[in-house]
Parts: sequence; structure tokens; C-alpha cells
Amino acid sequence: MQTITTLESLRSSVDELRKTGSIALVPTMGALHQGHLTLIREAAKLADHVAASIFVNPRQFGPGEDLDAYPRQLAEDSAKLEAEGVALLWAPGAETMYPQGYSTNISVSGVSSGLCGGDRPGHFDGVATVVCKLFNQVRPDIAVFGEKDWQQLAVIRRMARDLDLVLPNGDAILGVPTVREADGLAMSSRNAYLSAKDRAAAATLPRAMQEAIARIVDGQEVAPALAMLEDELLGAGFTSVDYAEMRDADSIGLLNANNGNARLFIAARIGGTRLIDNIAVE
Ligand code: PAF
Repeated sequence: MQTITTLESLRSSVDELRKTGSIALVPTMGALHQGHLTLIREAAKLADHVAASIFVNPRQFGPGEDLDAYPRQLAEDSAKLEAEGVALLWAPGAETMYPQGYSTNISVSGVSSGLCGGDRPGHFDGVATVVCKLFNQVRPDIAVFGEKDWQQLAVIRRMARDLDLVLPNGDAILGVPTVREADGLAMSSRNAYLSAKDRAAAATLPRAMQEAIARIVDGQEVAPALAMLEDELLGAGFTSVDYAEMRDADSIGLLNANNGNARLFIAARIGGTRLIDNIAVE
């Protein structure tokens, strides 16, 4: 595996790789877990070469968020990627990604409204901007993202279509189902922040979501079903629920009734850690 940190060497390495086949890109912020490695394995099924990127993107963190605390473990991550047969690791520094004078921002409206877009102002501008740059830098044939960040995936697909990026149709951006721990908690780099007690309580999140979904599917009104879900989380030790909403899976529009294409989206805090999840209402 080649680890590349400059745009010049990235260009020549991508040109070389391209001579022997297609490239799938898996963008990450590092602190790799089984969820990321699943993305890498899916990418490997779809292209001749897998490129991964590791860049903790400052533009998607708001003031007071965990940019400084975000786990950085490049050596450990590199070893995991190498073991998965990744051909190229793109690991630029912040000065390479955003050199002095950098002034361009990509803002995707519509699908970025509400949920994390509402709670974390500027977050999806940061995501869209860095992913657009990564696509232009690596020029992949396909890119692979986790469905755990469902709204992020919708933002990236919209951006790629709107800007006619190298990935010419929405299908070239693959979403991979969320990988979960044995107790159902969605894998996330931020789970590492949880104390043992909070980690045990965090398993309430997916369980309570499934229970709320069952109530909605059984015909209960959405608002009381979600109110029960919030109560259950607060009772289990969560300190707050940023949002618990049912939305259309594609438009991300808010739903008060199941339209057959609904997902339940949640963000809740436990011990200072913000956890997100989403599950299909079916
Ligand atoms: O999902 C992530 O890890 C990040 O948001 C991404 C897509 C790598 C952009 O920084």
C-alpha cells in the first residue's frame, strides 16, 4: 500500500493505478473500526483497486465540537488498510487540503436541512466541500460510504449529481448498511469516548428505536411513539435527545405518517458523546 500525502504524488499514483483498472474510494476520518473495514471490503468487490482517504476534516466540525479530541491513529489505521489489500492511502494534512487563502465552500440545500444539518450548522457544507475535493483529487470510478450517516449520503449524492462530478450517476455512490455491535449499537469512532457504564446504556438506543418502529408499523401515531422513545432513552441514562424524527429516506423531508419509504433518525447524547443512528420504518 502506498501512503500519499502530497497532491503531486497522488496524481502520479492515481494515473499509474488507473492503467491497470478501476478505482473505488472509501473516504474516512480514520479511527477505523469494523464498519470502515466493511466499506473497504464492499469497495474491493466493485473495483480493481481500493483507495482510502484519512483526513479529519476541520470544516465539518463546529465550534465546541470534538475536532481536537477526535481519535488520530494513522499507524494503526494504515496497518488495518494494508491488511485489507488497499492499494493507496491518501492522508493529506490540513495545509494540503485547505492551503492559505482557501475560500471555496460547497453548500447543498434541501436534503441537508434538519436533523444533523439543523443541529450542526455548517457541518454538511464541510462534508460536501471535502468530499468534492476528494473526488476531484482521487477521481474514483465509485465511492463507498456508510448508511449510518444516511443524511450525509443523501447530501453527497445530491452534490455529485448537481455538480456532474466524476461519478456520473447516483448509483456510483454506494451506501453500505450500518455495521452493528453484538448488542445492536451502530459502530462509530465516537463509541470509543463512552465509559463502560455509558457504553452498556448506549445499547438502549437501537433497541428503543426498533420498539418505536414496531409501534408505528402497528399503527400508533408517530408523535407519541417518538415521545416514548425519548423517555426510554432519558430513563436509560441519555442526557438529551437532539432529535428523534421520522423522515423520507430520499428527500429527508419530515413525515408525520409512514409513507412506505420512511426512516427513523435519531441523535442523542450520553456522557457528553453524541450518538446518531437511523433505521428503516418497516
Ligand atoms: O463520514 C465521514 O467519516 C466523513 O464525514 C467523511 C465522509 C470522510 C468526510 O470527511
